[in-house]
Amino acid sequence: MKKPKFYQLTKDERLATLVEQGHLSQTDADCLAAAEPLSDEIAGNMIENQIGQYQVPLGVVQDLLVNQQVYQVPFAIEEPSVIAAANNAAKMARANGGFVTEQLTRLMTGEVVLEKLVDLVAAKAWISGNNDHLFEVARAAHPSIVKRGGGLQKITPTIIDNRFLKLELQIDTKEAMGANIVNTICEAIAHAVQEQLGGNLLLSVLTNAAFESVVTASVTIDPATLTTATLAGETIAEKMIAASDFAKVDVARAATHNKGIMNGIDAVVLATGNDWRAIEAGVHSYAARKGAYQPLSSWEWTTDQQLRGRIELPLPVGMVGGSIGILPTVQINQRLLKVQNARELAGIIAAVGLAQNFAALKALVSDGIQKGHMALQAKSLAIAAGATETELTQLLPLLLKATHLNTATATELLAQLRAENK
Ligand code: MEV
Repeated sequence: MKKPKFYQLTKDERLATLVEQGHLSQTDADCLAAAEPLSDEIAGNMIENQIGQYQVPLGVVQDLLVNQQVYQVPFAIEEPSVIAAANNAAKMARANGGFVTEQLTRLMTGEVVLEKLVDLVAAKAWISGNNDHLFEVARAAHPSIVKRGGGLQKITPTIIDNRFLKLELQIDTKEAMGANIVNTICEAIAHAVQEQLGGNLLLSVLTNAAFESVVTASVTIDPATLTTATLAGETIAEKMIAASDFAKVDVARAATHNKGIMNGIDAVVLATGNDWRAIEAGVHSYAARKGAYQPLSSWEWTTDQQLRGRIELPLPVGMVGGSIGILPTVQINQRLLKVQNARELAGIIAAVGLAQNFAALKALVSDGIQKGHMALQAKSLAIAAGATETELTQLLPLLLKATHLNTATATELLAQLRAENK
């Protein structure tokens, strides 16, 4: 008998396989299998007015090849087709040498904004002339980040709209996403500046436009490897490039193009305990940084007729801090991913985004998106209608043949099936 594929195994068999392959320890696999909810002590102390817990499935994308290293990537996601699509893309990219990533800088940025200053130009000059003092204020505000080799790196004052004085602070937060570090330093500097210059202190806080933490990932695909039973690889590649060009001139498409990318990115960001709202805000502000909202990735021919995809986006993710140290599953996920530091994590996430985009474009320009979605959609509907694991095998083929694939059909077919099985 043919060996079943990973996705055809039961959850326990999948966990056992990951243990066997050395990707998970037995203890971590047991923890995932038990799927224990957070203790009341943890959950109740994490947020205000906690009344329960909200579950999202955790899955794995296998063997994603990034910078010549193979990763098992945890995805926390409720949308049925995302992991299947990423796995497909990971497999194809692997056969073509995998993803290559790069992150030039990894700094967080904070803003301190004042208004109603008597002399904006003099105020700006004072900031530039008193950097040493302000750096000392920053060091005193957060000595532990300085001890870890990070802290304030640069202060840039700007006059905006002939009204506001903005100080942009670039801060090295090391392995943390660093919102607390940045906010602490911003507030200390804000008070020191206001004490000297007067005016109205408006706000001092991190910006999610983390444009000093931009990551790129690229992949080069031999079009021959894209060939399907009905379409030549070159045709698919050509259409993927055209679809990518279209996203550059149509905001409606750019939004969906980027949503597909974020399907994978958010899933890994969530699984690794990072702040997905921060990542979303940063990514979309980056997509709109030139005034028009643009796709985060693009596809083109190389001079030697290969299909090349590239993604560029800010990914200020962390390995410590926030909920990362509190949520046990996040730590299991970090171990599954075998990731060593925040830069490596950002690279993997960028590659996931490009993989997701590759899978979406390829499906859109060849079979269409619904073919793959329908089987998974049918499964979700059947489960929502109350089908058991054994009933699923009988119900799914019936559902896929139905004229209207919706909850009512699933419920009706399940009732018929149960009546026949009685
Ligand atoms: C669905 O969640 C995401 C896609 O619509 C992305 C895309 O159209 O590129 C398939």
